[in-house]
Amino acid sequence: MLPVKQALTRAGVKRLDKISALDNSSDVTKHLPDDIPIALRDIPSVAPKPTVDRSMLMAGLTTLGAIALAAGILVAVQLQRSQQAQSSSTAVAANSAQSVTAANPTASPTSTTVNADTMLGHFRYAEATQSELSSVTADGSIKMRKAAAKAYQEMEAAAQQEGVSLVPLSGFRSLTDQDYLFFGKKAERGQVAAERAKVSAPPGYSEHHTGYALDIGDGAVPAMNLSPDFENTPAFKWLKVNAPFHSFELSFPKNNKQGVTYEPWHWRFVGDRASLETFYKARIKK
Ligand code: DAL
Ligand code: ZN
Repeated sequence: MLPVKQALTRAGVKRLDKISALDNSSDVTKHLPDDIPIALRDIPSVAPKPTVDRSMLMAGLTTLGAIALAAGILVAVQLQRSQQAQSSSTAVAANSAQSVTAANPTASPTSTTVNADTMLGHFRYAEATQSELSSVTADGSIKMRKAAAKAYQEMEAAAQQEGVSLVPLSGFRSLTDQDYLFFGKKAERGQVAAERAKVSAPPGYSEHHTGYALDIGDGAVPAMNLSPDFENTPAFKWLKVNAPFHSFELSFPKNNKQGVTYEPWHWRFVGDRASLETFYKARIKK
């Protein structure tokens, strides 16, 4: 038979355990003094002299329960508010993350928010400067960033070795070039913006601004240039297998998430840190 005080103390433990289990998810419990539960659970062989009577213990437990309940409600309300705030500010945060990246390519976005700085499915890209470019054609009419140009020329030579003729059709494009391709052609063809954007990026949003993108044709089948049928040419078949060895990849495969029409001719260089960051940093995870 337990001494009366010890029995009362055990009853107190049961109540406290119940409350702790109920409020386990609340951070508030972490701030509660933990000497009471531990001391009560670890009942010594000689019962310690109680410092509180039963009514005081009950009052204390009731107060703790009320605090835990209030804290739980507070946490739930705050969580709901922060979720609402987060969803409404996602676009703003994403815009600033992308601006930071554009201004300073080595800066990391401060959050994991997606890049929402898009226009009709296209991402914003900074224009490469002339000093960063070099020619991929003998007449200098088509240019890419230096590392990309070198990689492309090596790839073209490798294809040539195997009897495949890769021909560069369009590399770096300025905002003015893209302005004409988007707005000029759009007006010429009577297209609405969303329709035009399926095949051409609005100025400021083309991978061609970066100097890393190149439209490639087949010298043996020029009729297929810039056509979906380019995928049936020896050049495309060769690229599909060999382009990754030269750090080139297809930007707009079939059913791409950007909603851009399939472009088997449009390849981008992703063979160094700057190019990889240009295309993959702070972007919607695919
Ligand atoms: N044709 C691609 C989407 C561009 O204009 O950049
Ligand atoms: Zn292109």
